[in-house]
Amino acid sequence: MLPLTRRHALTAAGAAFLVGAAPARPSYRWPERFLWGTATAGHQIDGGNTNSDYWLLENLPNTRFKERSGDTCDSWNRWPEDIGLLKALGVNAYRFSVEWARIEPEPDLWSQATLDHYRRQCAALRDAGIMPVVTLHHFTSPRWIGAMGGWENEQTADRFARYAERVAAALGDLTGAFCTLNEPNAQVNSQVLRGGKADPKDAPILAAAARKAGSDRFGAYFLGDAFKVRDICIKAHRKGVDAVKAKAPGTKVGITLALQEWKKSPGGDALYERLWQQARKPFYDAAKGDDFIGVQTYILFRTGPDGFLPARQDAAFINTSNLEVPPTALGAAVREAHANTGAPVFVTENGIETEDDALRMRHLSQSLDSLHDAIADDVPVLGYMHWSLMDNFEWESGYGPKFGLYSVDRATFARKSKPAAALFRDLIRKAGVKPVSGKL
Ligand code: BGC
Repeated sequence: MLPLTRRHALTAAGAAFLVGAAPARPSYRWPERFLWGTATAGHQIDGGNTNSDYWLLENLPNTRFKERSGDTCDSWNRWPEDIGLLKALGVNAYRFSVEWARIEPEPDLWSQATLDHYRRQCAALRDAGIMPVVTLHHFTSPRWIGAMGGWENEQTADRFARYAERVAAALGDLTGAFCTLNEPNAQVNSQVLRGGKADPKDAPILAAAARKAGSDRFGAYFLGDAFKVRDICIKAHRKGVDAVKAKAPGTKVGITLALQEWKKSPGGDALYERLWQQARKPFYDAAKGDDFIGVQTYILFRTGPDGFLPARQDAAFINTSNLEVPPTALGAAVREAHANTGAPVFVTENGIETEDDALRMRHLSQSLDSLHDAIADDVPVLGYMHWSLMDNFEWESGYGPKFGLYSVDRATFARKSKPAAALFRDLIRKAGVKPVSGKL
């Protein structure tokens, strides 16, 4: 796509003023055909992902997971109701992930019934004027991939490409865009902070997982040697892009990255540089020439001499985990990602972990301010997917952290909208959201 110029951004038809909870800004003009949506991931909302590596890890005796995923939000069965939630929000895009463990339950055994399930979901989204944005891999892999050594095994990149090809062939006509891998950079930061060493605490967990899987080894996206995983993920991404392009020509493909804003504090230059060289630059380099770069931003970290500094507790935006989460981090990440890849930006995740919905509302409207400022400064941005549609299974932290526009009753699965859902609906309506067809 052509870069969006300041003129385009400021003259786009259908633009409107953002008022209400948004701070008083004179005029907001969003790019025409901007994608407004929410994001989710299969393992976090579907439930019963029993054939995945995460399910195995959650159920180990020495598990690090606070809770097990279990039924999660039962979206595997309740997805039509979830499309109703999306319609109520008035979004024109929805980012969700398909599950490799369900599509290829054993090596080279492909489940047509599962692909049909996702096709029905994509078709129903299209009927509602909502573009499906499909993530191929959102952290979880089949347990048999784990038993082969997971993302430390070179063969996983080829296995992933074959899987991507199947999904692209099955869903490509209905899908607006594919994301290959979700945040393969996330774990690399911690390894840089440990001076390049894998976390020794992973070893007993991986040994127990191998025993349970009946293998002599086990590997997962977020365990083991994050540098090795990084290099194989980058290969998998490149092969995945080619696989999707071969089977779904014309469908845009990109990778999504965890892009905290990083600021240098006194004495923090060397660490910043190491993080940049080992954890960020390799991924930006891998994304050069892609159709888009997926930006996922939550947190601001300040680098000190020995690590990230504790959050400033007087900051206006602090999340439940006590981290600094200023809305301006989004604009900073979007600018950085575009400057370093040359690719158009797609905000594939942004949100806040909080129980305080008033804080969520302030964070949401000011994050959009910050995004709009970047657009007005000529950064090409294709869309904004809020994380998340509903409260869900937050990986090792279980069901504690709350990111949703909807809450979910853990016993009945009933979804209930929070005030931030109404705010999001109003903001995007005022921004001129329209139903979309076709591709990104
Ligand atoms: C991940 C999501 C996660 C969210 C909030 C992102 O890193 O892609 O799966 O739930 O952040 O922690």
